Amino acid sequence: MKLLTGKPGWTVEADVIVIGSGVAGLTTTLNLRASGLTVLLVTKAHLDEGSTKWAQGGIAAALGPGDSPEQHKVDTLIAGADLCDIDAVNVLVTEGPEAVRKLIARGAVFDTSDSGEISLTREGGHHRNRILHAGGDATGAEVSRALLAAIQGDTGIEVIEHALAIDAIHDAAGRVCGITLHVIGEGSRDGIGRALASAVVIATGGLGQIYSQTTNPSVSTGDGVALALRAGAEVADVEFIQFHPTVMWRDSSLGGQQPLISEAVRGEGAILLNNKGEAFMAKVHELADLAPRDIVAKEIFTQMEKSHQPHVWLDATGIENFVERFPTIYQSCLENGIDPTKQLIPVAPASHYASGGVLVDLQGHSSVPGLYVCGESACTGAHGANRLASNSLLEGLVFGARIAADIATHRSQAGEPVEDREATILLSSAIRLPLQLAMSEGAGVMRSHESLTRTLATLKELGTHTTTDQSIESWEATNLYQLATAVARGALAREESRGSHRRSDYLESSPAWHKRIVQLLKNGEWQMRFVEVGQ
Ligand code: FAD
Ligand code: SIN
Repeated sequence: MKLLTGKPGWTVEADVIVIGSGVAGLTTTLNLRASGLTVLLVTKAHLDEGSTKWAQGGIAAALGPGDSPEQHKVDTLIAGADLCDIDAVNVLVTEGPEAVRKLIARGAVFDTSDSGEISLTREGGHHRNRILHAGGDATGAEVSRALLAAIQGDTGIEVIEHALAIDAIHDAAGRVCGITLHVIGEGSRDGIGRALASAVVIATGGLGQIYSQTTNPSVSTGDGVALALRAGAEVADVEFIQFHPTVMWRDSSLGGQQPLISEAVRGEGAILLNNKGEAFMAKVHELADLAPRDIVAKEIFTQMEKSHQPHVWLDATGIENFVERFPTIYQSCLENGIDPTKQLIPVAPASHYASGGVLVDLQGHSSVPGLYVCGESACTGAHGANRLASNSLLEGLVFGARIAADIATHRSQAGEPVEDREATILLSSAIRLPLQLAMSEGAGVMRSHESLTRTLATLKELGTHTTTDQSIESWEATNLYQLATAVARGALAREESRGSHRRSDYLESSPAWHKRIVQLLKNGEWQMRFVEVGQ
């Protein structure tokens, strides 16, 4: 199955195509260049758009005195609620420190103490201070700045902005040998084109936009994951959508990207309060307000249900240097009429991160030859049922380097592209909002058989709203539809509560569900298989 598009009017070639210019795409690109390969870097909007530049809290790595990859591993496994792939976690935590040093060598500047040591803070689920941060709460902006500066002026990288990757192109052997894309450009590279290469790396980030309220920017429509599904790749763990506990609550009618109040604010001492002014997390978990975020999100949800209020409160008034430590959050609070040094901040959970994605191995191979996936689009298994705070930027750094090394070492030539005769699909852009509302209503922090069945019925109906009107909006809406369906199907199948997947009709984790749900879209039909997770 493919998205409905016109015929490609132009062709561009490179050794490798990288789709997406966040931490995953840029790290892969820089490492490919270090091996002398040419890269075509395509990105949907401006180069710096995507989740990376919004990252606040920081990057987790065992760099502090007394810390070790082993301790980082233990915290990652606990947060992942017994569903992490142990090999992927080992790679992440042992290669993490070197990957961060490399990022620093590439120009990223992290906050330091008066004595010049890198300052490390704490976030939910970490038993140690191990989070590097930059500009106080502007870590992602610094990572993005440094990596973009590092690709500047390299003639071996061709960048095309405003280039929306649409579908994969295969050769006669079924290997991916390129992509179709739509470019809003000038001159010869405008409209639908095709890009050919011996390997394609998807690094298109998350899919937060399947929900009506999310911390993710508008480009996070999961395009690369949907592209991979249509290309025949398997996805896994997609039911594990992480809801960040402390997203500023403004008004339920305000959809789209919402301001995040970093977990690092709780790391520096802020406390959650219910509407009676009572601190509630200490009764729930030994780490109190710094429990893993699935546990905090669930407890906030319970408090909101009890009080019939749409939010709880975050008290950050005790943080003495709030303005200097969290300048971005301070500004966004002020813009919303709150002075966090004097007032409580209304917060509620919102969709934040896809712990699952395209199923890949430790070198980033998807189940389709020639197609690699990196960063939030991938499911390496490192996050299990719930990602540990600040492990995501780290994953992009570590696995971006691994993918580039694999491509450089095992470079195999792709064959000629074959004519595409597959069935096509295109849905109206008008389905985006009802789809987001149906997902938030039925597949949110707390789900049940009944709510998910309702959401799937709505999705099925939305799937009948076909169109021939090709536009960025309709391609995105179709991607959102396919991914929302996968998320809701996975959530319905998983009859237990684990990590960020909470079912009101199955409140406990079940040993019978110590498995990964793997999904595939074949000839327009969904298939599901279950894989036992060994730790
Ligand atoms: P992204 O950075 O999202 O980049 C995706 C890229 O793909 C973008 O360039 C986008 O434009 C492009 N793209 C998308 N679709 C297409 C298409 N069809 N064609 C071409 N290009 C496309 N993680 C941490 O570890 N620490 C934190 O402190 C932290 N804070 C966060 C705060 C916020 C508000 C958010 C939203 C996330 C945060 N995260 C954090 C998560 C982390 O930022 C992301 O998981 C990570 O940046 C993802 O990187 P990526 O490279 O995979 O994707
Ligand atoms: C945050 O700063 O709270 C977000 C950290 C993350 O998503 O890892």
